[in-house]
Amino acid sequence: MDSKTLRQKFIQFFVERGHKQVPSASLIPEDQSVLFTTAGMQQFKKFYTSPEAAPAKNVVTVQPCFRTSDIEEVGDNTHLTFFEMLGNFSFGGYFKKETIEMGYEFLTKELEIDPKRIYCSVFKGDEINPRDEESVEILEKMGLTYKEHSREDNFWGPTGEEGPCGPTVEFYVDNIEIWNLVFNEYYKEKSGKYRNLETKGVDTGMGLERMLVVVNKAENVFHTDLFDLPHKKLHQFLKKEDSFDERIILDHIKAAVFAINDDVRPSNKDRGYIVRRLIRRAIVKGNQIGIVENFIKKIAEEVFETYKGIYQFDQKMIQDELEKEETKFRNTLSNGLKEFEKQKQNLTGEIAFNLYQTYGFPWEMTAELAEENKINVDRKDFEKAFEKHQELSRTASAGMFKGGLADGGEMETKYHTATHLLLASLRQVLGPDVYQKGSNITAERLRFDFNWPEKLTDEQIKKVEDLVNVQIKKDLPVQMQEMTLEEAKESGAMGVFENKYGDKVKVYSIGDFSQELCGGPHVKSTGELGHFKITKEESSSAGIRRIKAILE
Ligand code: SER
Repeated sequence: MDSKTLRQKFIQFFVERGHKQVPSASLIPEDQSVLFTTAGMQQFKKFYTSPEAAPAKNVVTVQPCFRTSDIEEVGDNTHLTFFEMLGNFSFGGYFKKETIEMGYEFLTKELEIDPKRIYCSVFKGDEINPRDEESVEILEKMGLTYKEHSREDNFWGPTGEEGPCGPTVEFYVDNIEIWNLVFNEYYKEKSGKYRNLETKGVDTGMGLERMLVVVNKAENVFHTDLFDLPHKKLHQFLKKEDSFDERIILDHIKAAVFAINDDVRPSNKDRGYIVRRLIRRAIVKGNQIGIVENFIKKIAEEVFETYKGIYQFDQKMIQDELEKEETKFRNTLSNGLKEFEKQKQNLTGEIAFNLYQTYGFPWEMTAELAEENKINVDRKDFEKAFEKHQELSRTASAGMFKGGLADGGEMETKYHTATHLLLASLRQVLGPDVYQKGSNITAERLRFDFNWPEKLTDEQIKKVEDLVNVQIKKDLPVQMQEMTLEEAKESGAMGVFENKYGDKVKVYSIGDFSQELCGGPHVKSTGELGHFKITKEESSSAGIRRIKAILE
């Protein structure tokens, strides 16, 4: 099934069931509470509190969405910066029973998905909002399999500081989260208080690209008709195939095309900064696989072609913007990379800032290059250098350093130590053939990839979690020793043994529990970490699992 057919089927199904089709909104929301339109409900937010103003009680849309919150995940099988969301909404027309029943009917009857592939999740409740008993009862009656999840997975909103929100039921097919059914029964006020909404509303969102994967049993979102043409074009430019970099390039160019089309220009501020960052990252990734000439606007052409008849593009304007940005960036890129190579062994915040100012390297790019080279650079120092030069407006820098990293550095250090505990625990629970395949840390969470052929069981996850927490309780000291590479190898420390560390390497030990080659920094003792919790365990790519975890 191609994307056109799926869009049509969705719209038709809900129109036949009393919904009015409403056109999609711009990626730049009217309501300025968020930078981009991240969900179909954005344009309808106000109708949950004033349903009488809605164009109809029940509506259906296909909404282009732009999300940077998942940018670190882009390149895996399911995450995209730009995607389309199919959604049905109700402002007092129907509620949970109808929503779940229609959803299930669409999946099993209209798309003929085998019910055995489907399961649901439902909100299990917490000290703030109660368990979603009503949905549980409906799912029970329908005989559907469901799991109970916490707030992080099964409570939506509000987007921005205040607004409608509520528990969700999610449909999963083959373990892929494909459809989120939100039951807006509360309004969260600025004060943090939840009150009941007078009229209960429904907001659903189904990812078009993910649904195509499921319906066609495709490998991932990049193997759908929405990426075919740009992908083919990209292959004409490559010297070296690398599916991961290719995916990131394709994702970022498409997102940039749609954002520019909605009048965002690459710049150093707000939305423009994000678009600039996407374009530049695509160019850098391209560079790594041998693309040295301008190629972005050629890929853009294939994006236009892919969405012909669905969306209208200001083609010339978009191509001009892309070409301008690419030419400008390429002029400085190779010099910047040379500079990075020269300085990388003693990369400081000042140097990172210089890379930004002189060579146009967004901070995230320098951080990414540093990570690839196993080099540490402190974002705080970069921010300091940055503030000193006061280039950007406050809002831009707030958006740039997502979450305003006042004590972000501290949290990152904690996550860093927690990552070592996690690896050691995984090896104890799963065996010594488990190795780190990737790691990414923000102030909000850690993400960790490792080799393992199948989904971890709930029991395994619990064991790993418990083991980490036991080490935290023990308040083990974290100690650093410098030694030669050979000594480190002999001591049995984990790590990537490549010579780029230089002769002397740092080995961090956490009691007797873990020993790893690492640049640091780390906390002084594990007691500082608080409580460790695994929030997600999923496939990252073939043979690689991915864990996300938080400290609370
Ligand atoms: N707003 C919900 C989401 O984005 C459902 O559309 O998942």
